[in-house]
Amino acid sequence: MSLKRQGQLQCQNFLFLKRSFLKEGIFVLMAQPGLCKLRGLALRKNKLNIKMKILHLISSPQGEASISIKLGNAIVEKLMQANPDSEVTVRNLTEQPYPHLQASHITSFFTPAEFFGPEHQEGARLSDAAIAQVLDTDVLVIGAPMYNYGIHTSLKSWIDQVVRVQKTVSFSESGSQGLIVGKKIYIAITTGAVFTEGYYKQFDFIEPYLRAVFALIGITDVTVYRAEGLNIPGVRETAFEKAVESIAV
Ligand SMILES: Cc1cc2nc3c(=O)[nH]c(=O)nc-3n(C[C@H](O)[C@H](O)[C@H](O)COP(=O)(O)O)c2cc1C
Repeated sequence: MSLKRQGQLQCQNFLFLKRSFLKEGIFVLMAQPGLCKLRGLALRKNKLNIKMKILHLISSPQGEASISIKLGNAIVEKLMQANPDSEVTVRNLTEQPYPHLQASHITSFFTPAEFFGPEHQEGARLSDAAIAQVLDTDVLVIGAPMYNYGIHTSLKSWIDQVVRVQKTVSFSESGSQGLIVGKKIYIAITTGAVFTEGYYKQFDFIEPYLRAVFALIGITDVTVYRAEGLNIPGVRETAFEKAVESIAV
């Protein structure tokens, strides 16, 4: 990973206050506290090893048979190779699901803090926790297997808890403003058909949807890796290996 890339990874808004130059000619970018984080930066010869917090979200119910979990693991592995001091948290959204969005959640999300009662606190509890976990993470690796042209409902439920007015997105007359800064997302999309070209390209809803919803909350540094054609003889045999080879972190 290049220095520029790593800087982008940590601080999308480039609000650097000072740069201190070190012997090897490598510089450390000091970030304004609270706006972006450079955590535990360790220097190796000609190589930066950033101690990152990585959150791997799994949304396939297929366990050991899942290709999106394997592809997500391969992304995490490459991130760890590049930044060995990083720590990884895995959250399997199919085993520990967030509930579907209910009226109690929506009421809490739209109730101003000064009117919050115990019932609103309860309605916002899981959302608060999901958002806190995102804010405490530098890099998200998200497995997004395709089911019936869409994402798995466990991932949708997580998104519905994380996209929240005044917490992760604000709205004004001039439009929406994402409130999350400095995060990087890698998405592992797996599909039975091929969606990057050919007939099914017109039904490629997952990538545009995920890019749009993450941009809404301020995360635009999104890289997608795909293992596609997993149900097509002649394509499926090499689809996963090709996807892994394409990973550049
Ligand atoms: C219930 C179900 C629905 C699926 N729907 C689609 C689909 O709409 N389009 C597609 O290309 N593949 C579809 N697939 C194939 C999956 O995308 C493919 O098996 C992928 O590997 C699933 O990810 P996973 O292995 O991580 O669970 C479907 C598979 C299942 C089991």
